[in-house]
Amino acid sequence: MATAARNDVRDPAARQAGYRFPPGFERNLLWFAWRRFRPANPILLFQHLVQEYGDIAHYKIGWNHIVFLNHPDYIREVLVVQNDNFVKERTVRRSKMLLGEGMITSEGAQHRAQRQVAQPAFHRQRIPEYADTMVREAARMRDQWRHGEERNIATDMMHLTLNVVAETLFATDLRDEVHELADAINRIMGLYNFLVMLPAAEWLVHVRPPGLAAFVRARKRIDAVVHRMIEAHRNQHADRGSLLDLMLVASPDRSPASEKSLRDQVITIFLAGYETVANALAWTWFLLSRNPDCERHFHEEIDRELQGRLPAYEDVPRLRYVEMVIAESMRLYPPAWAMGRYALNDFQLGEFFLPAKTTILMSQFIAHRDPRFFPDPLRFDPERFTPEAKARRAKFTYFPFGAGFRQCIGESFAWMEGVLLLATLGQKWRLKLLSNHPVDPEPLITLRPKHGMRMHLEARA
Ligand code: HEM
Repeated sequence: MATAARNDVRDPAARQAGYRFPPGFERNLLWFAWRRFRPANPILLFQHLVQEYGDIAHYKIGWNHIVFLNHPDYIREVLVVQNDNFVKERTVRRSKMLLGEGMITSEGAQHRAQRQVAQPAFHRQRIPEYADTMVREAARMRDQWRHGEERNIATDMMHLTLNVVAETLFATDLRDEVHELADAINRIMGLYNFLVMLPAAEWLVHVRPPGLAAFVRARKRIDAVVHRMIEAHRNQHADRGSLLDLMLVASPDRSPASEKSLRDQVITIFLAGYETVANALAWTWFLLSRNPDCERHFHEEIDRELQGRLPAYEDVPRLRYVEMVIAESMRLYPPAWAMGRYALNDFQLGEFFLPAKTTILMSQFIAHRDPRFFPDPLRFDPERFTPEAKARRAKFTYFPFGAGFRQCIGESFAWMEGVLLLATLGQKWRLKLLSNHPVDPEPLITLRPKHGMRMHLEARA
């Protein structure tokens, strides 16, 4: 862990309280960031903090203390050891404008209740039931693809994973609405950086200046689809044991408050469940296309293990290289690229003593590229994820699904979905990135390919 502590923050109250701050910017970031960084890309800021200050860095924005962590011991301390002292609260304030109070953004008793309601749908025994649907949807897509075609694979992966979530967790066929929904979500993502930088956006949303009006319109379109889905389910009166059924049973009445809560819970799982996986897959196709040896290995394993038939749940443990490819892809391009926490009380972190209300930031994008734990970090190498290599590596160096009691509820679902969709599509197709297509990661709510992912389809003989 870093050693150089500071207790010289120019804040007499802080000095008096005996706080010891990590090294970091002397100047308030509001002023500093506008001069040095493009504020729209926090990854540049995080990279700078790591280069200058190492494992832990401190800065202020206005009155707020922010601490950026870049060491597995610190990350474990916040997410697991001292998790009682940390909430998500302010760090997810802007996400609440879309997600409301669903499982990702809620706290305390409300969060526990929502997680408990959803848990059975993610139970180890339920996950195998979803495999057939995942494979069927991927097979449908691969049959629509044409040899020699150029496609935006990022969009295709979004449509595919949206359909999978709708069918598996919400027992709903969304094929007719998938374009509308994806389009509305894209509009919101496009406005995301603007929203993050806009002071009092939660309040301004009611006044609707330009930009925010587009946000409100897109949110209404998403809400309309979600409401249609809920109503259709209610009218069918058939409990198929889906996540939506579980949510409806737990929703006591049709008062505006419980309708709003239902909408928030549904939309949260929807967005969390499709956008992340879609991005992981788009980045994986890109990396395979750039690394022909790995791509060959990937195809060989699929051909050997499946012998030409469609994959099924039982094949997942045998498609080990496919899983290693996804793991390595999420190391370099983690769909959840950063996480935040907010301290309820004063706390000790290593040798530092920090005040309540400090915001803690951690970034998978930065941590997963740390050369101390991933030598030659920019090289794509799925062998980093053999069981032996994983066992040798320190814990909390790789955390694409977070950690502790707020760890992703959909992790097993996502691993299985990733393996099955890649294997089904990769069995028939090789995807080549167009040579002139620019590829840049864009850190929005998830890490998206900024210009999409335009790829050329080659049918495999
Ligand atoms: C590659 C795919 C995925 C990635 C990388 C991912 C990543 C994450 C991360 C990092 C968190 C923790 C955030 C934090 O602690 O601040 C999280 C939470 C969550 N994820 Fe995922 N996720 C993925 C797929 C899914 C899927 C498929 C679902 C549901 C179908 C899902 C639903 C959720 C929910 C509901 C939470 C909130 C859990 C809680 O706070 O109790 N995720 N995810």
